[in-house]
Amino acid sequence: MFDLSSLRLPVVQAPMAGGPSTPQLAGAVAEGGGLGSLATGYLSPAAAEAQLAAFRSLSTGPVAVNVFVPEQRPTSSSDAHDYRSSLESWCRAEGIVGDIPAVPLSVDDEARADYSSMLAMLERTAPQVVTFTFGLPGREDVARLQAAGVQVGVTVTTVEEALQAVDHGADLLIAQGIEAGGHRSQFDQSTVPSDITTEDLVRSIAGACGRPVVGAGGVDGPASAQRLLDAGASAVQLGTLFLTAREAGTKTTHRTALLDPGDRGTVLTRVFTGRPARALSNRFTTAMEGAAVAGYPQVHVLTGGIRAAAAVSDDPELLHLWAGTGFAACADETAASVLSRFDALRRPEPRAPGQSGV
Ligand SMILES: Cc1cc2nc3c(=O)[nH]c(=O)nc-3n(C[C@H](O)[C@H](O)[C@H](O)COP(=O)(O)O)c2cc1C
Repeated sequence: MFDLSSLRLPVVQAPMAGGPSTPQLAGAVAEGGGLGSLATGYLSPAAAEAQLAAFRSLSTGPVAVNVFVPEQRPTSSSDAHDYRSSLESWCRAEGIVGDIPAVPLSVDDEARADYSSMLAMLERTAPQVVTFTFGLPGREDVARLQAAGVQVGVTVTTVEEALQAVDHGADLLIAQGIEAGGHRSQFDQSTVPSDITTEDLVRSIAGACGRPVVGAGGVDGPASAQRLLDAGASAVQLGTLFLTAREAGTKTTHRTALLDPGDRGTVLTRVFTGRPARALSNRFTTAMEGAAVAGYPQVHVLTGGIRAAAAVSDDPELLHLWAGTGFAACADETAASVLSRFDALRRPEPRAPGQSGV
C-alpha cells in the first residue's frame, strides 16, 4: 500500500479538472519526488483511463486519480431557470457572445452513471491513490477500491466532513481551506462555505481524525507549506502554483492572467458553475454575482458556451480564472522548478503510537 511518508517530497500536485491536469504534469511531479494527480472531472471513464495509461508510460512513480462525487443536493429547477434568464439578459444587453443552452436537468443522472463506471475503471486499474471531491463516497465504494489496493482520500472543508469521511473508511483526508483555488469541495453545495483557513483546518483534523492529512489551499512557497506540516499535515497539495507550470494544460488566457494579474484579486463565487469557487475577479464575477445560485452542475453547463467563446477570443473578462490566494507566486517554470522551491521542507517528527494525529 502506498504511504505518503514514502514520498521524497511531501508535495501533492492537485488534481485540476478542465484541462490543467495532464499526464505530463503528474509524471513530472512523480519523477520529481512528489505525488502527481490526474483529474477525471469532465472526462469519460475511457478518457480518464487513457490519461492513466499515458501517466504510466511517463513514470513508474505513484499517482492519485481524483473523482467528482455526484451532488447530494441537486440544483432546484427554478434556481437554474432564474440564473439562465439573468445570464441571457446580461449577455443580450452587453453583446456577449456564446451559446446558452436550455437548462440541462438530466446532467445529474448522467453524472451518477459516469461515476459508477469511473469507479469500476479505477478498481480495475488500481492507481496508488483515489481522491474524491464534492461529496462523501459510499462505504461500499471505498471498501471496493481498498480491496483493489487503492488508498482512498476524501477532500473535506470542515472537521464534521472529515469525521464523516473517516466513518466511511477514508485512509487520508485532504483538508481544503478557504484560501484554495478552484471549487470548494464542501459535501453540500448549498451551504455557505466554511471560512476556516487551511492551517486551522489541518490542525483541527489532524487532532480529531487520526488519519494522514494533506493541507490544500493558499500554499505560495516553502514558508506556508512548512506551517501546514508543522500544524500536522503529512503533505501539502498545490494547485495554483502548478497552473503556470509548462507541463500543465492551462488555457493561455488563464495562464497569462495569473502571470500578469494587474490589480485583480481573488473572489469566492458561484457565478461560473453554481458551486463556490475561488477565481481571479473579472467582469463576469462582478456582473453576475447578484444572480448567483447554488446550481452545480447545471450552471456549469449554462455558462459553458460563453466561457468557450472567451477562451477562443482570449478574453480574460469572461473566463473562469480559477486561482488561490497565493497566485502572486505563480511563475513561468517547469514542474521540477516548482518542486525545487520545496526541497528544504522538514517533515514533522512521527508521533508516538496512541497519539492522535498523523
Ligand atoms: C484550476 C483548478 C482546478 C481544480 N480542479 C480540482 C479537481 O478537479 N478536483 C479537486 O479535488 N480539486 C480541484 N481543485 C482544487 C485543488 O485540489 C486544491 O484544493 C487547491 O488548488 C489548493 O489551493 P491552491 O490553488 O491555493 O494551491 C482545483 C483547483 C484549481 C486551481
